[in-house]
Amino acid sequence: MLRYDGVDLTYSIEGKTAVITGGAAGIGYAAAKFFHDKHANIILADLSPEVCNIAEKLGEHCVGVAGDVCDPAYPGQIIKAGTETFGKIDILVNCAGIVALENAEDISAADWKRTIDINLSASFFMAQAIGKYMIDNQIDGSIVNMASQAGVIALDKHVAYCASKGGIIAMTKVMAKEWGKHGIRVNAVSPTVVLTALGHKAWDGPAGDELKKEMPSERFAEPEEIAACIAFLCSKGAGMITGHNLLIDGGFTIK
Ligand SMILES: NC(=O)c1ccc[n+]([C@@H]2O[C@H](COP(=O)([O-])OP(=O)(O)OC[C@H]3O[C@@H](n4cnc5c(N)ncnc54)[C@H](O)[C@@H]3O)[C@@H](O)[C@H]2O)c1
Repeated sequence: MLRYDGVDLTYSIEGKTAVITGGAAGIGYAAAKFFHDKHANIILADLSPEVCNIAEKLGEHCVGVAGDVCDPAYPGQIIKAGTETFGKIDILVNCAGIVALENAEDISAADWKRTIDINLSASFFMAQAIGKYMIDNQIDGSIVNMASQAGVIALDKHVAYCASKGGIIAMTKVMAKEWGKHGIRVNAVSPTVVLTALGHKAWDGPAGDELKKEMPSERFAEPEEIAACIAFLCSKGAGMITGHNLLIDGGFTIK
């Protein structure tokens, strides 16, 4: 069950160990920095060969494990590094992702498959491995999967991306339903455009200017604003929240 032993009004994640995939850049890096500032231990998991240096620069209680989230051996390597370095893993932030921009009639099979493989399948297999590890070790864990506003609305040229993020929201609900009895909470976050390399690639130019005009916020999000929401979902303050998809969209999807 999801245990209640009081609400921690500080929303602390101090002393927790978090695996953050896609942690070398963008939202993942912002989450790692936020978690580190809140005294969590970090396992930074990323394709970037720089990930170990980035982890070292973040500071103490932070290690990098380089690899491809699509490699079936990678979740096991991350669990080994996490348990050997910090004793246990309490949190997974499934953040690694890509975008392929193409009309539905033109997208190649390779671009479709790569988007689904990285954004959806690899997120599932990472959550499956770490979820099973949490169940086996009776850890009251928290998993946050990175979805997107693209998972709930249609965006031009985002067909594979929208499909992958819709899948993330659905998979999050099933995992939350099945794993509540093990004390594990599973949630998704769905940001609007975030000012990272991926966000700039997809939305710099007239389409982004138009989208911004339709947002009550009249601006895109900073990575730190997404990191703060992720940290909240991983804290005891969110102890009764599971299976939720938190839209962080400046009101864009209200319509
Ligand atoms: N930026 C946005 O506008 C936005 C909006 C909504 C959701 N998201 C989602 O947030 C997540 C992070 O996006 P971002 O904007 O920070 O992107 P980013 O491109 O800035 O960073 C992505 C990170 O993921 C890593 N990565 C990519 N493929 C990988 C793989 N196969 N194995 C391991 N690591 C891999 C990259 O090396 C990089 O460090 C993604 O899932 C993305 O879909 C982004």
